[in-house]
Amino acid sequence: MKITGKTKVIGIIGWPVSHSLSPVMHNAAFEYLGLDFCYVPFAVREGSIDVVLRAIPALNIVGLNVTVPHKEHVLPFLSEVSKEAAMMGAVNTIKVVEDRLIGYNTDGIGFISAVEEAGHPVKGLSLLILGAGGAAKAVVFAAAGKGAKEITIANRTFAKAKSLKEQTEKYFHPVKIEAIGMGCDELKNIAGKIDMIINTTSLGLKRGDPSPIPKEFLHKGLFICDLIYNPPETELIRDAKDSGINHMNGMGMLLHQGGAAFKLWTDTEPPIEVMRKALEETLMSDE
Ligand SMILES: NC(=O)c1ccc[n+]([C@@H]2O[C@H](COP(=O)([O-])OP(=O)(O)OC[C@H]3O[C@@H](n4cnc5c(N)ncnc54)[C@H](OP(=O)(O)O)[C@@H]3O)[C@@H](O)[C@H]2O)c1
Repeated sequence: MKITGKTKVIGIIGWPVSHSLSPVMHNAAFEYLGLDFCYVPFAVREGSIDVVLRAIPALNIVGLNVTVPHKEHVLPFLSEVSKEAAMMGAVNTIKVVEDRLIGYNTDGIGFISAVEEAGHPVKGLSLLILGAGGAAKAVVFAAAGKGAKEITIANRTFAKAKSLKEQTEKYFHPVKIEAIGMGCDELKNIAGKIDMIINTTSLGLKRGDPSPIPKEFLHKGLFICDLIYNPPETELIRDAKDSGINHMNGMGMLLHQGGAAFKLWTDTEPPIEVMRKALEETLMSDE
């Protein structure tokens, strides 16, 4: 990659940000298409977001990804936000247009594209979402918008599951949404009646973490999706594999949310296979 005085800069802001795979994925895409862009990580601490966002147009930075812990905090500094981002109250992508910062959220479409690519569209299905944080919200809103029949949100902190249920019902009232805790009895009661489980908890990020749902509650007809991609194989994915259950990890969602952001910044179709290869190679070299 040759950086010149004309190269357009895109960045990711987050804390920590050193683990992010987005630079490798986007830079591979820019290089492949011969686009004069580069993508750099900016480690931005909580509390500095106002200073940073004010400087973005002044530095002629043309786009950003936003990750933990800033996805909600950036909203007051944006000139405009997309319908999805406004509904979620969270932004993961910013495009700079004539000094104006426009916010989007591509996490939901990333999830939908990944399950569709895996041959498991959510339309008409009963889903069990484990977790009720930011990723759960993106998945629940996107799945409700795509015609999931029923969505049960199970979270360790029940109040957060209930709050996400209520927020979802405000926008997608025909979809049946339930909130439950993550106790064994609650999970056991629901597990037999569902078509797809999506783990959006951070349980599995650390090697040695247990699965968020006991293996004996899983059945053959399920599709299991773990949003965690590093490590590529969590205990939940191992249980699915052992039981012969169709499954995928979170790499597809990461890839497709990145593809959607790439298109917003460059007005060019993302070279998805190039981006996928860059991610896979980096994840393999991490192991
Ligand atoms: N593949 C992708 O593109 C993608 C995109 C976004 C996120 N993710 C992944 O999704 C996961 C969640 O991210 P997030 O942004 O939603 O985080 P978050 O907002 O902090 O939410 C974390 C969730 O995990 C639950 N949790 C944490 N520790 C737990 C434990 N020991 N037992 C049971 N539940 C536990 C929390 O429950 P409480 O409410 O009870 O604390 C909460 O529901 C992370 O692993 C992240 O890497 C993947």
